[in-house]
Amino acid sequence: MAQNVLLTGGSGFIGKHLTDVLIEAGYSVSVLSRSNKEDTPKIQYYKWDLNKNYIDENAVLNADYIIHLAGEGIVEKRWTKKRKKAILESRVKPIDLIFSVLEKNNKKPDAFISASAVGFYGAFTNHKICTEETPPADDFLGTTCQIWENAVYKIEALGIRTVKIRTGIVLGKDEGFLKKVNPSFKAGFGAALGSGKQYLPWIHIEDLSQIYCKSVTDNQMHGPYNAAVTDNTTNERFSRLLASLYGYAIWLPKVPPFVLRIVLGEMSEAVLKGQRVSSEKIQKTGFEFQFTDLEKALISCIH
Ligand SMILES: NC(=O)c1ccc[n+]([C@@H]2O[C@H](COP(=O)([O-])OP(=O)(O)OC[C@H]3O[C@@H](n4cnc5c(N)ncnc54)[C@H](OP(=O)(O)O)[C@@H]3O)[C@@H](O)[C@H]2O)c1
Repeated sequence: MAQNVLLTGGSGFIGKHLTDVLIEAGYSVSVLSRSNKEDTPKIQYYKWDLNKNYIDENAVLNADYIIHLAGEGIVEKRWTKKRKKAILESRVKPIDLIFSVLEKNNKKPDAFISASAVGFYGAFTNHKICTEETPPADDFLGTTCQIWENAVYKIEALGIRTVKIRTGIVLGKDEGFLKKVNPSFKAGFGAALGSGKQYLPWIHIEDLSQIYCKSVTDNQMHGPYNAAVTDNTTNERFSRLLASLYGYAIWLPKVPPFVLRIVLGEMSEAVLKGQRVSSEKIQKTGFEFQFTDLEKALISCIH
């Protein structure tokens, strides 16, 4: 019988792509979701309700591996106090709930793999390249990622292999970051944000799905891994390239920081600044990126 991988938040952008990759690799996939969903030939669904501390324990008990992707969208809405709480709790509470099922039933899946984000390192505009050894930042995203990752240590303490995937901006067709920026670029109104010099650490969804799949199959993988291409992509380079793929040169001025601060509030920091991360650790596992050229990655997403 195929080994089972349970995905929390598996109905989202990354989960949908990862499901196909895992099935192709010979695993069966189940998904924990907040809503009732009919099983499909590919996916068995289980329900949970974090507000009521409810989880269908069978989801966890039947899993050989667990991949935790669930969480409120980070850049969906302004970062009010309430929203920040929801962003954090929707990532940490699921880990606590899964931990309690594992502990109560003395169940040990072969690995627990959690999403995290390159926001762990904070947002800045200098040329520093962060490795997995770089300490976390004390801004909102840095603190959130740190608390999110720290929750995983509880699961590790049960003697379970754990992996954390510090993900950059994921590029996929009509999904994630591109779903937000593509319409204005397509319509001829693309523009760089702020100074445009902030780095934009990107990864193609196909590569990210393969990294998650490798985290399942490769039992030597353990701890945090950066998942983003190390290149010189800045917000300005990204914007110019995307506009050129739609056949025009950017004519609008860069969107000034004060405008973004008015529109986005504190969340503007996440777009006015960025990160640059090293992908050396994941490459040392033998992983090879399929997309290291931004132009090719964008073409595959917009055509
Ligand atoms: N996409 C990116 O560029 C990117 C970059 C860095 C890190 N990440 C991280 O990778 C993970 C997956 O990202 P994604 O792009 O696939 O996200 P997504 O498309 O927004 O999917 C996340 C899923 O989480 C579940 N969810 C949402 N709010 C929730 C809540 N309050 N409580 C419990 N579950 C909730 C939803 O599933 P149900 O509705 O079925 O419950 C949703 O489909 C996230 O943790 C994200 O922060 C993503």
